[in-house]
Amino acid sequence: MSLPLILTVSIIAFFLTYKLYQWLRFKLPPGPRPWPVVGNLYDIKPIRFRCFAEWAQVYGPIISVWFGSTLNVIVSNSELAREVLKEHDQQLADRHRSRSAAKFSRDGQDLIWADYGPHYVKVRKVCTLELFSPKRLEALRPIREDEVSAMVESIFLDCTNPESLGKTLQVRIYLGAVAFNNITRLAFGKRFVNSDGIMDEQGHEFKAIVSNGLKLGASLAMAEHIPWLRWMFPLEEEAFAKHGARRDRLTRAIMEEHTLARQKSGGAKQHFVDALLTLQDKYDLSEDTIIGLLWDMITAGMDTTAISVEWAMAELIRNPRVQKKAQEELDRVIGFERVMSETDFSNLPYLQSVAKEALRLHPPTPLMLPHRANANVKIGGYDIPKGSNVHVNVWAVARDPAVWKDPEEFRPERFLEEDVDMKGHDFRLLPFGAGRRVCPGAQLGINLVTSMLGHLLHHFCWTTAEGVKAEEIDLLENPGLVAYMRTPLQAIATPRLPSHLYKRVAADM
Ligand code: HEM
Repeated sequence: MSLPLILTVSIIAFFLTYKLYQWLRFKLPPGPRPWPVVGNLYDIKPIRFRCFAEWAQVYGPIISVWFGSTLNVIVSNSELAREVLKEHDQQLADRHRSRSAAKFSRDGQDLIWADYGPHYVKVRKVCTLELFSPKRLEALRPIREDEVSAMVESIFLDCTNPESLGKTLQVRIYLGAVAFNNITRLAFGKRFVNSDGIMDEQGHEFKAIVSNGLKLGASLAMAEHIPWLRWMFPLEEEAFAKHGARRDRLTRAIMEEHTLARQKSGGAKQHFVDALLTLQDKYDLSEDTIIGLLWDMITAGMDTTAISVEWAMAELIRNPRVQKKAQEELDRVIGFERVMSETDFSNLPYLQSVAKEALRLHPPTPLMLPHRANANVKIGGYDIPKGSNVHVNVWAVARDPAVWKDPEEFRPERFLEEDVDMKGHDFRLLPFGAGRRVCPGAQLGINLVTSMLGHLLHHFCWTTAEGVKAEEIDLLENPGLVAYMRTPLQAIATPRLPSHLYKRVAADM
């Protein structure tokens, strides 16, 4: 036998023996039988959270799924979610970093990909006390209201254009623009798109970096799970280095612009980039951390809000009774002489329930982000060995008939009958997760989603195209970490307010 062959056989034998040892030593949760080397990778259907929910029906609410040689444990009911996110929160608060995530985050120098430890606690404190403080959220409200009014104006122009009368609009385009402009203004203090919809050079560079990042991340997906096969998929070191340099160059240029503007005006603005630069010494933040944090906000805060509103609109079109009831509330509280503002939320309980019901049935991150065990833990009476990944299937938890009446029905009234928290205190409803790693942008996300929905409903009636039945709207998701609708929602918008209320109210900040 040649040396390479002996080596390969020995590595495989060692690996199999180690796995066998693990199997025998621990009482692991049940699950589909794994294949050698690949585990269950080839059995997992593309829409993972639906596949895991199906397996939970067969094996129970806590299951083992092997991604190659990595154990992934998925829990699918509220009691187990509580065990993961409350009772054993600290031992399950690390992150699994794929090789691309490790590269992008400079080995967890940011927040999303940082393990739980002193760095994480420090950066989380910056988020809680500084970036997402109620004061800053309020100070940034004009940006959100500007972007929502820009969305209303652009839908109005398109749906009243004589050439497109009676034609459907692709709702996602308008929602995506709000999410994009809102997050880039919030994080970078920049609107890359002018009022005619033309994107500037930095905007194009920004978009190219985001899509290149996605491409690089996806290119490694399979090799990630089988470490000893990685030599077949060499990390594109050069591509990663180039990507990182490009991202840093753009971010540094923007940081520089803000520093100069601060020196000129003598005061700091509210955007995250200004906040982080002025707090750099106080919290001892490295440049890598500042850049990482800014990009975390883009990654985590852009798609999630647009996805939530698209699903909510699909449900409102499928359920005209709910749409009408939300509009009646808006007409009663706001009337026909002014537009809604975030300060009206407290008088719009039904609208808030619509947003909550949409996040219950369609959480944009149905499996949250995986947590990693930093110690051996017991969940539901089973062993979770150190190093395993733990996912909470918040999509399945929120549809569990044991804790929800008629779970598949879109019925916002359920939240008027019972006040259910959705920011991590009630383990039946976890669109933002819970515990140490709960989404720091939850309130911002809720405000933006509710505001977009309120404006869309107050300003327009929404229906399907002539001849298309509402029940025909495709309610399946696209595969991926975030759950976009598989078929982008197409709908007809009909204005319902006086035309002077459809103008963008631009905020210069
Ligand atoms: C509807 C909107 C949103 C939803 C449903 C959502 C949901 C989530 C979920 C489920 C997690 C993972 C929690 C965990 O790992 O346990 C998360 C993490 C995170 N989210 Fe959000 N999010 C939303 C909007 C936002 C916004 C607007 C921002 C910022 C601008 C944001 C920033 C973050 C960050 C930085 C993390 C990582 C936290 C950590 O690792 O400790 N999110 N989000």
